[in-house]
Amino acid sequence: MLDIDKRERQLDEARHYVREQLGQDSSGHDWWHIVRVTNTAKRLAAEEQADGFVCELAALLHDVADEKLNDSAEAGLDKVRTWMTGQQIEPVVLEHVMEIIGTISFKGGNQPPVTTKEAQVVQDADRLDALGAIGIARTFAYAGWKGHAIYDPELPYREQLTPESYRSGATSAVNHFYEKLLLLKGRMNTRSGKALAESRHRVMEAYLKQFYAEWEGTDGDWAVPSDTAGAPL
Ligand code: ADP
Ligand code: NI
Repeated sequence: MLDIDKRERQLDEARHYVREQLGQDSSGHDWWHIVRVTNTAKRLAAEEQADGFVCELAALLHDVADEKLNDSAEAGLDKVRTWMTGQQIEPVVLEHVMEIIGTISFKGGNQPPVTTKEAQVVQDADRLDALGAIGIARTFAYAGWKGHAIYDPELPYREQLTPESYRSGATSAVNHFYEKLLLLKGRMNTRSGKALAESRHRVMEAYLKQFYAEWEGTDGDWAVPSDTAGAPL
């Protein structure tokens, strides 16, 4: 028999652990990113009939091993494995969660597709948090954290990024839309994830249109009737 209480306790331990590990992060991997990804993963898991416990646990733990927050990707993964072992997570669940968190990251977009339904769900949930209104906010926050410009018209965006060039090299917040965000809609794994990605994609397109219009000074309808032109407000 499955011990539901035990699983609830394990999820609760995971929440405490992750919050303590990521609490201070300002590179886009803070605790509230985890909360949003976990909620989306639960929603997609129900829709896609995936294992909800595996999806929730993997979503909670997916950024603890991030190489930005550890000495290396391997050191990060070892840390998560050690933590799950200490929590007596069932071996099949532990291995599945390790596989998910080791394979879902974007890293420039040339990673092989993930294979299990649960990995597909968690990857979609993580990607969805990079899109739409929240994705736009995270992009500018990340660019600030890195010291990048919001936009530089003289800096072309890059194609065919490797994991190394994705993490380093000159770019801007606006370039990131072309280097990653606008590509994600075409790379979703699940039907429900794709539907959500499409509406968030439209939000980003509308945002960029307005951004360029303001940049060029061609936005809005600011023409005033000729008889009031030049008059004070
Ligand atoms: P993940 O680990 O989820 O694949 P990343 O660590 O690549 O994601 O990114 C974390 C957040 O920062 C995401 O919202 C992502 O789109 C954003 N981000 C990553 N690289 C850049 C960049 N060069 N400029 C702006 N935002 C970025
Ligand atoms: Ni993430």
